[in-house]
Amino acid sequence: MSISPSESHASEAPAEPKGGVVLGNPASKLDLSRPPILEVDNLQMYFPVRNSGLIRRTVGYVQAVDGVSFQVPAGGSLGLVGESGCGKSTTGRLITRLYKPTAGRIDFDGRNIANYSASQLMPLRREIQMIFQDPATSLNPRHTVGAIVGAPLLIHKVIPKKQVLNRVQELLEVVGLNPEHYNRYPHEFSGGQRQRIGIARALTLQPKLLVADEPVSALDVSIQAQVINLLQDLQREFDIAFLFIAHDLAIVRHFCPEIAVMYLGKIVEISDRETLYNRPNHPYTQALLSAVPDVKQAAIGGRRERIRLEGDVPSPVNPPSGCRFRTRCPIAKEICAKVEPPLLQIGKRHKVACHFAGELGNHPTAPITAGMLGVDDQGNHDPGASPSKDIGNSPGFSDFWFDLKTRTMAKS
Ligand SMILES: Nc1ncnc2c1ncn2[C@@H]1O[C@H](COP(=O)(O)OP(=O)(O)OP(=O)(O)O)[C@@H](O)[C@H]1O
Ligand code: SF4
Ligand SMILES: [Mg+2]
Repeated sequence: MSISPSESHASEAPAEPKGGVVLGNPASKLDLSRPPILEVDNLQMYFPVRNSGLIRRTVGYVQAVDGVSFQVPAGGSLGLVGESGCGKSTTGRLITRLYKPTAGRIDFDGRNIANYSASQLMPLRREIQMIFQDPATSLNPRHTVGAIVGAPLLIHKVIPKKQVLNRVQELLEVVGLNPEHYNRYPHEFSGGQRQRIGIARALTLQPKLLVADEPVSALDVSIQAQVINLLQDLQREFDIAFLFIAHDLAIVRHFCPEIAVMYLGKIVEISDRETLYNRPNHPYTQALLSAVPDVKQAAIGGRRERIRLEGDVPSPVNPPSGCRFRTRCPIAKEICAKVEPPLLQIGKRHKVACHFAGELGNHPTAPITAGMLGVDDQGNHDPGASPSKDIGNSPGFSDFWFDLKTRTMAKS
């Protein structure tokens, strides 16, 4: 891939309003013809909690990520959304292998990198890069922009030293910055410009996968649109796959054809964009979506009723039994405290982890999962039942799924 400035990067005149963010490029589409570049299977990250005594013993674990599975198609993008503290950044840091997972598989381009050593990871650093959540703190204030963007080129000895400055200037131009500003320091730039420096640094080694951790949440709304458009242009131009982390459903809606919703370390719903926004089946997704302003509805005078979740997010050190959302769920029943709901495929590209999965106002009264889990409707062991094996939690989608209307298996 050669780095050349794109005409479209200059197009920062936003056009179409979408849920509070003004965006100029058309929303990206799902391309199922390409195999996944990333497959994450049952990923787990438990951080030890130690006491404060002289002998520091482990007294518990922060279950930051607990059994997360998903795929990111090559050149495509998956959105990862959820409230603060649900484990989004930890998931991103696991994939970039800034953390070593407690358990699980991270298949990147056909190799399981979950347990790679530092020396095995070195060449991989070129292929997976991360844009960090906070542009102000992720850039070294004592280094010039040229040194920051050029460092990966020098460390990985990608090009001869004397060509580094040229390449840095090309990259600054690609992200819409003045190439002559390579000798300035991060504090001499605005927040949006600093985020562009972070993007230029992430692009330096021409990665196949970019983990973008809330790349625009620290920016003004007008600057958000510019940076999102820039990322879309770069994705198209350089065929980069994205794991796009955000807490704002309006932003991932535009960027990502598929979206996973996380709650307290687990994925509770994952689906193609249209299904997730128009027919969410998990009470948590329904609550999150009720808080997103809908421009089309507002234009016709309609209003989506706001679902207010009661209580705080529980501690990931001691999460609730059964379904982790049950302490805040408006439709929780007895089974929810006893049995964890599997991430069940209920459509061609739709999975949901809820015993009472259904569209808003149309949740079933009896759990859909009881039979397949070998329990009765209250979640007690049912000796007469024959539970299904291997339900839920595998990455990707199967050709078969559980049809909620007929309560039988369906096929595409
Ligand atoms: N290094 C660490 N040591 C211990 N606990 C951690 C560590 N990093 C994160 N955590 C905890 O793990 C949980 C998930 O944190 P994480 O940063 O992944 O959340 P997040 O979804 O990215 O939140 P936000 O939207 O605020 O960025 C939190 O409870 C956090 O306190
Ligand atoms: S499993 Fe129960 S508690 Fe969890 S989301 Fe579904 S209804 Fe609510
Ligand atoms: Mg985070």
